[in-house]
Amino acid sequence: MSLLSSLSLALAASQSVLGAHPSRDGQRLRFTEDGTFQLAVFEDLHFGEAEHLDWGPQQDVNSTRVMNTVLDNEHPQLVVLNGDLITGENTYKENSTDYVDEIVQPLLDRGLLWASTYGNHDSDFNLSRHHILAREQTWANSLTRQDVDTSRSGVSNYYLPVYSSNVTKSVPELLLWFFDSQGGNYYQRLDTSGNGVSQPNWVDQTVVDWFTSTRADLCTKYGRNVPSLAFVHIPVNAMLAFQQGPGVQSHYEPGINDDNPLAQEGYTEGQGDVSGTLSNYTGQDIPFMQALLGTLGLMAVFSGHDHGDDWCFKWNTTLPDMNLTGNGLDLCFGRHSGYGGYGSWERGSRQVLVTEELLKDRSVETWVRLETGEVSGRVMLNGTYGRDHYPAVADTAT
Ligand SMILES: *[C@@H]1O[C@H](CO)[C@@H](O)[C@H](O)[C@H]1NC(C)=O
Ligand SMILES: *[C@@H]1O[C@H](CO)[C@@H](O)[C@H](O)[C@H]1NC(C)=O
Ligand SMILES: *[C@@H]1O[C@H](CO)[C@@H](O)[C@H](O)[C@H]1NC(C)=O
Ligand SMILES: *[C@@H]1O[C@H](CO)[C@@H](O)[C@H](O)[C@H]1NC(C)=O
Ligand SMILES: *[C@@H]1O[C@H](CO)[C@@H](O)[C@H](O)[C@H]1NC(C)=O
Ligand SMILES: *[C@@H]1O[C@H](CO)[C@@H](O)[C@H](O)[C@H]1NC(C)=O
Ligand SMILES: *[C@@H]1O[C@H](CO)[C@@H](O)[C@H](O)[C@H]1NC(C)=O
Ligand SMILES: *[C@@H]1O[C@H](CO)[C@@H](O)[C@H](O)[C@H]1NC(C)=O
Repeated sequence: MSLLSSLSLALAASQSVLGAHPSRDGQRLRFTEDGTFQLAVFEDLHFGEAEHLDWGPQQDVNSTRVMNTVLDNEHPQLVVLNGDLITGENTYKENSTDYVDEIVQPLLDRGLLWASTYGNHDSDFNLSRHHILAREQTWANSLTRQDVDTSRSGVSNYYLPVYSSNVTKSVPELLLWFFDSQGGNYYQRLDTSGNGVSQPNWVDQTVVDWFTSTRADLCTKYGRNVPSLAFVHIPVNAMLAFQQGPGVQSHYEPGINDDNPLAQEGYTEGQGDVSGTLSNYTGQDIPFMQALLGTLGLMAVFSGHDHGDDWCFKWNTTLPDMNLTGNGLDLCFGRHSGYGGYGSWERGSRQVLVTEELLKDRSVETWVRLETGEVSGRVMLNGTYGRDHYPAVADTAT
């Protein structure tokens, strides 16, 4: 093929993608012909630290290497960037979102679609999560949206339907929900002492209201509760209550468990706590947890934030000091993917595999692909997860 014709073909392909851009709905996610749909979750990449020192940019080169290694080994239909894409403390107002282009390069190289949630480090004096979204949306491959637009809601709140490989089916097989747990500091705001002003770091009531009404609308529209998965950067309090109560058992909830106690929605330390007004947990995420438990068909929720934890647990009962009763919902951490951010646990990426067959049982398979190429902590999130015995996960550092 001549260079010119391959160029014009490439152009036509990119235009057809761009043509679908205005609605963003044209970029339909689909199960493969084998009936599978896989997600690769990169979280806590923390690009943009110490940009004037050697080690800062080198970290980002390393993080890109992790993404490439993972994607050379896995072939997902969608990549989820599950918060803390950038560390906003050290970046400049004029160019802090330039890092978005660097982060998504491995995805663009492979023609992959992606969807983000934003984390606490994605908001700071010189970094705005609204601007990250705008920068993402310059790429047709970004499916990230803002469906709730109030000053209290954060940005990355939206859902994506995933359709059957059978193109004649008009009802999706799976819904993906993305929530913004906010945090960090407000963009370009200082208090009277010149300190950053911290944002609430939980999923706001306005988002809970949007979630419950949208899921009801979708149920009416599709005539059933479509099975779903959810993504939110900061974990809910149930994960802490489980960790501190029944506890994480290495053969039943295999994974590293070094952030102990873990930090949950409503609790902040370090960045995001500059003004010190929002540091203690007072049940801020209870409405969100209630909404998650009330979502028929919701199978699992995936969080990041705590770099030293990568287990999943089944919330099947009451937990100490919590009034909510679990219904079998699985709550999972991913794996710290970036060389930025604290901790030197071997980097990796949580993989989530849904198949049209497994969906009949509301089961999901998941594992972590490490930067070494090895697989860690492969489990089946099915009805007996939490009672099934698995090999323990090795706690290894790079
Ligand atoms: C980059 O990765 C290599 C290999 O893991 C590691 O030895 C090195 O310390 C990393 N550099 C930084 C700045 O993170
Ligand atoms: C924010 O960016 C400006 C450049 O626009 C820089 O002068 C300033 O030091 C940065 N502030 C912080 C807190 O990083
Ligand atoms: C951002 O701008 C500052 C000031 O001009 C510069 O020193 C820095 O290298 C730039 N960062 C990036 C990532 O381009
Ligand atoms: C595709 O779905 C339609 C219903 O929407 C069904 O009639 C048809 O049999 C399906 N095709 C296959 C190959 O399963
Ligand atoms: C948070 O809890 C600590 C320890 O109990 C207390 O000293 C501090 O005043 C509390 N902060 C707020 C903002 O309530
Ligand atoms: C549990 O609910 C009761 C009654 O609604 C309330 O008094 C109590 O404070 C709640 N406890 C927690 C830990 O939320
Ligand atoms: C769940 O998956 C595990 C591991 O594959 C399997 O041993 C167990 O029987 C499954 N449970 C159910 C209810 O299918
Ligand atoms: C609930 O999950 C725990 C593990 O987290 C398990 O020990 C217990 O047997 C489960 N209970 C039921 C009723 O499945």
